[in-house]
Amino acid sequence: MTKYKFPKHFIWGASTASHQVEGGTLNQWSIWELAHAQQLAKSAEKQLSGTPEWDHIKKHATDPNNYVSGRGVDHYNRYKEDFDIAKSLNFSAFRFGIEWSRIEPVEGEWDQEALDHYLEYIRELKKRRIEPFLNLWHWTIPTWFADKGGFTKKSNLIYFDRFVKKVAEEFGHEIRYVITLNEPNVYASFGYLTAMWPPQRRNIPEFLRVYLNLTRAHKRAYKILKTAHPGLEIGVAQQLANIQAKRPHNFFDQLSTKWMRYFWNWWFLLRIKNQQDFVGFNYYFTDYFTGFVKRSNPSVPLNDMGFYMEPEGLYPLLLRVWVRFKKPIFITENGVADHADQHRQWWIEETLIAMERAISEGVDIRGYFHWSLLDNFEWSYGWWPKFGLVEVQREHGMKRKIRPSALWFADVIKQIRNNK
Ligand code: BGC
Repeated sequence: MTKYKFPKHFIWGASTASHQVEGGTLNQWSIWELAHAQQLAKSAEKQLSGTPEWDHIKKHATDPNNYVSGRGVDHYNRYKEDFDIAKSLNFSAFRFGIEWSRIEPVEGEWDQEALDHYLEYIRELKKRRIEPFLNLWHWTIPTWFADKGGFTKKSNLIYFDRFVKKVAEEFGHEIRYVITLNEPNVYASFGYLTAMWPPQRRNIPEFLRVYLNLTRAHKRAYKILKTAHPGLEIGVAQQLANIQAKRPHNFFDQLSTKWMRYFWNWWFLLRIKNQQDFVGFNYYFTDYFTGFVKRSNPSVPLNDMGFYMEPEGLYPLLLRVWVRFKKPIFITENGVADHADQHRQWWIEETLIAMERAISEGVDIRGYFHWSLLDNFEWSYGWWPKFGLVEVQREHGMKRKIRPSALWFADVIKQIRNNK
């Protein structure tokens, strides 16, 4: 008997993204990686030497190869093996990406082989009774679309529409759940405000345009998908933080908190609130704000990337999402960078408690997706952050090795199911 109580049909899943695992992708990110690998390796020490696992990660973080997605974890070829692992870990759902640059490598030309691949991919999931959660866009775009200005121009949205229509035609009859966009707030901020990610712009009007155009892209995708397949359940995977005031009684800390909650958490979701069947969000952070929107987090506990960990911060966030939107909720990502697997079990345990508590108070949570099934390419940090329930030994034939925390989690899921 487990202590946890979850609704009978609660969905337990794992999450991935095409560019981070497939290998062999050619999009605006892979081009950027090749151009910036040297420089990222050079700046690693300055950026990361204060993180708790620096001694361990140093060798990788200072190697330019770390910053190239390259062969990925060869998930494009090994997906059946990976689905078998997901099944053995008792997952009943899997979130994955359709890589736009694969199915439309040249503007207006569809790649039949790639389309066949994803159809087969979805069918292999269903064969194993794993519910496919199809993700349309997780930050990567074809180079031809980037050359046209990507999401900076409203007039470019017709290209995204066409991609969505194609996905609806090809796969709509095979699936029930679609996630349109992953973390539009992160993409717009890192790409167009802080200049950390491609296309490395620092331009407020452009940032606002991209953010707004992504709300439009979602709404149009929602309409296209619903028209083609009214039974689909559609949402996004927004990045939400549990944002709190450092000094709750302080006027400026309160003001910063209000502003960040509105700007970071709610702005996008409010704009699409009538075009989503569920609220999907990724939870990684509790952030404390002070003064003039200054982040000031406790110095422990930190994950391998130096991020402050407060898994139970999911609870207040769940309540707030529920009160605002009154729609079913999916936690579409949640996890921790932890190469030694020393925090993951604790993190998941606290997360289960947070979800169970919210459910017992009436919050309609339908499912939880752990990030990630596999170790994967962590964007501008490259390969060294290890988010996988399953370790992937890229230097040793891409061997998969299940981490102890994953075995523990699999057992908990089994016990929860058997409780019914
Ligand atoms: C993203 C993932 C990423 C994860 C861990 C999320 O913001 O959607 O692509 O790997 O965080 O940092």
